[in-house]
Amino acid sequence: MCGIVGCILNDKKAAPVLLECISKLEYRGYDSVGIATVNENTKKDSTKKDSTEKDSIEKGSVENSSIEIKKDSGKIKEVDEKVHLADMGGNIGIAHVRWATHGIPNKTNSHPHMDNSGKIAVVHNGIIENYSEIRENLEKEGYKFKSDTDTEVIPNLLEKYMKKGMNLEEALKEALKIIKGSYAIGAICKDNPREILAAKKDSPLIIGVDEEKGEYYIASDAPAILNYTNNIIYLDNGEIAILNDDGVVVKDSNDNIVDKEIDVINWTADMAEKEGYDYFMIKEIHEQGIAIKNTLVEKDNIQDIIANIDGNINRICFVACGTSFHASLTGKYLIESMAGIPTDVIVASEFKYSANALDENTLVIFISQSGETADTLKALRKANETSKTLAIVNVLGSSATREADHVIYTKAGPEIGVAATKTYISQLICIYLFAGLLAKNNDLLNDLEKVPDYIEEVLGNEDKIKEIAIKYKDAEDFFFIGRGLSYPTALEGALKLKEITYIHGEGYAAGELKHGPLALIDDDIPVVVVVPPGDSYDKTISNLEEVKARGAEVIAIGPCGDEFIEEEVEDTFCIDKEVSEILAPLVYVVPLQLLSYYVSVERGLDPDKPKNLAKCVTVE
Ligand code: G6P
Repeated sequence: MCGIVGCILNDKKAAPVLLECISKLEYRGYDSVGIATVNENTKKDSTKKDSTEKDSIEKGSVENSSIEIKKDSGKIKEVDEKVHLADMGGNIGIAHVRWATHGIPNKTNSHPHMDNSGKIAVVHNGIIENYSEIRENLEKEGYKFKSDTDTEVIPNLLEKYMKKGMNLEEALKEALKIIKGSYAIGAICKDNPREILAAKKDSPLIIGVDEEKGEYYIASDAPAILNYTNNIIYLDNGEIAILNDDGVVVKDSNDNIVDKEIDVINWTADMAEKEGYDYFMIKEIHEQGIAIKNTLVEKDNIQDIIANIDGNINRICFVACGTSFHASLTGKYLIESMAGIPTDVIVASEFKYSANALDENTLVIFISQSGETADTLKALRKANETSKTLAIVNVLGSSATREADHVIYTKAGPEIGVAATKTYISQLICIYLFAGLLAKNNDLLNDLEKVPDYIEEVLGNEDKIKEIAIKYKDAEDFFFIGRGLSYPTALEGALKLKEITYIHGEGYAAGELKHGPLALIDDDIPVVVVVPPGDSYDKTISNLEEVKARGAEVIAIGPCGDEFIEEEVEDTFCIDKEVSEILAPLVYVVPLQLLSYYVSVERGLDPDKPKNLAKCVTVE
């Protein structure tokens, strides 16, 4: 997830405005920042800059006008201190904050990217899925690439088509015909010095309009530009926008001009970081569908990893902490049942206390959102001595990604809420892809595509979970039970509750309840029963009956249309009955996340920043 902005101003310099706007999008990425402006008639004397600053400046070709770029890796503040981002000429420009996907976070991979001739600069949010093929073809035609990014193919494609006589707009349309994937693009060109072109597909992009001043903006989200205008045009997929001194023209993919409405929004600029959500956690819960879609792109990488290690592996061992540990447990169920490879799961902080019987035929899989958890890294270093290691990580360039033999990225985007939600779902997707590819289970691999829609359905019924949360917000203890693949879901539901509500929550294998915890059950204790359809259904229903018979208040998360649950249980949340037992961990956890979120908010707490906890734990 990256952030982009752009502006066409009259007398004001663009760079300070771009800097302010892009700072509002830092939540979307903090790996690097960059600004490109069009300088008309510019011939800057770069010898006056100090050496560090000079190093971060790229100059385009200079005739009547030129493109100037300043960019570097690091947070906006750090880069600004180094290169003085606001100190650039020109009234028109584009800017970008990066959350790296293709290529490590460094200056070369930072946006904006230029074409070979230095006349076009592009910022991009999204993933160009067929970039390697495009790049190969361009390389055959003599184009040179500086970065490892997918984005750099865009300015070069534009230049290629412009060389054939097209203008920037025609070139963009031509380029979009061959680009596959998701994008929000902003492009400037020194040949059209008072124009910005924008295009959107599956990544957010809006246009800001200040008709009075004749000034125009593009941005990944509206709050980024709210200090300048609250007149917003929402671009739809497949549309392109041409912004110049005459105003804004939007065209659809058939080249028809679209009469777009200008919405006046009443948001305030300080809502920028949360995109209008009250807390990051609820925003991140809502981003799970897109996180899944982005993570599914990892399939080819996972296939390559499997091709590299398969055949030599007779045992798998997962190592992780917290939520990542629960994702790992799901991995054990999936891999053993589908691929028949014996699989263990070890809490990272316990790893060193056991011999673990690792050898060269063991694959040790480390799951970590941050890639920096001290316990996990310690275990990774130990495992590297004997075995093949694979890290499943969200944060690019983190220690685990540098130290493991193989890496799979969860492409969930930056997660700010301390309680992991969308990264858990993305970890699960990586595990499902891994297990599905290992077992060559194409039906499962295809079914993963449906999960974002199932999650949307759950989110559409959010109010129902909120009602349940309000009813039980004062409970002192909760139990969460499930069997098989739903057991890790129960554990994760209990962990979310503990983390952000400070209510005691215990996750249990439903069949194990009778071996102790049943003694605690009475009519003060809500028991959340995770009961998807499938093999475990009947036995889980028996366990539901057991707790109900002892007076517990049952909250059932089960399939829609289930007559037994509807008749016997007062508080239910139902999930599309098409969601099979094997897919259930990816969907049934969502109401549990929402339950904890709303209990936390109803208790007057801040779910984003739970006491005593940190997003990334770098001590053992
Ligand atoms: C902390 C976080 C948890 C997270 C755990 C593991 O405790 O608060 O949300 O699950 O660390 O973190 P990792 O980055 O390794 O997944």
